[in-house]
Amino acid sequence: MSRTVTRIAVACLILLLAWSSIACTGPQQPAPTSPAATAAQPDGAALLQARCTRCHTLDRVQQTPRTASEWETIVARMRSKGAQLNDAEADALVQHLARAFGK
Ligand code: HEC
Repeated sequence: MSRTVTRIAVACLILLLAWSSIACTGPQQPAPTSPAATAAQPDGAALLQARCTRCHTLDRVQQTPRTASEWETIVARMRSKGAQLNDAEADALVQHLARAFGK
């Protein structure tokens, strides 16, 4: 009797393991939009401090309010001069600049 119980228990365990491994190797769900996912975006304010102060102070930035498209032009020009930003970082920085020093 107890042997049968053990066999059933083992069979259940195997089924459970098989099922969970199928479940785990199934198609990946797209990551839900969570605060953690948003935090993975580059931080425009931090980028401004880190990447835009090598050649001049931020006075240049704060002096003149600009629209988003004007900031985009400036950031592109600064990248061509040597500001170290990838495309995602440049986008985040332009958004930050337009918000903080927009017109
Ligand atoms: C490699 C050096 C360098 C880096 C890094 C740099 N700049 Fe500049 N920046 C310059 C120079 C040189 C000028 C003056 C010539 C000009 O305006 O093109 C300037 C001018 C500016 C001006 C004034 C433009 C105008 O038309 O009045 C702004 C605003 C500015 N930079 C913003 C930024 C921002 C934002 C960043 C970060 C993405 C940045 N800079 C990074 C070299 C740099």
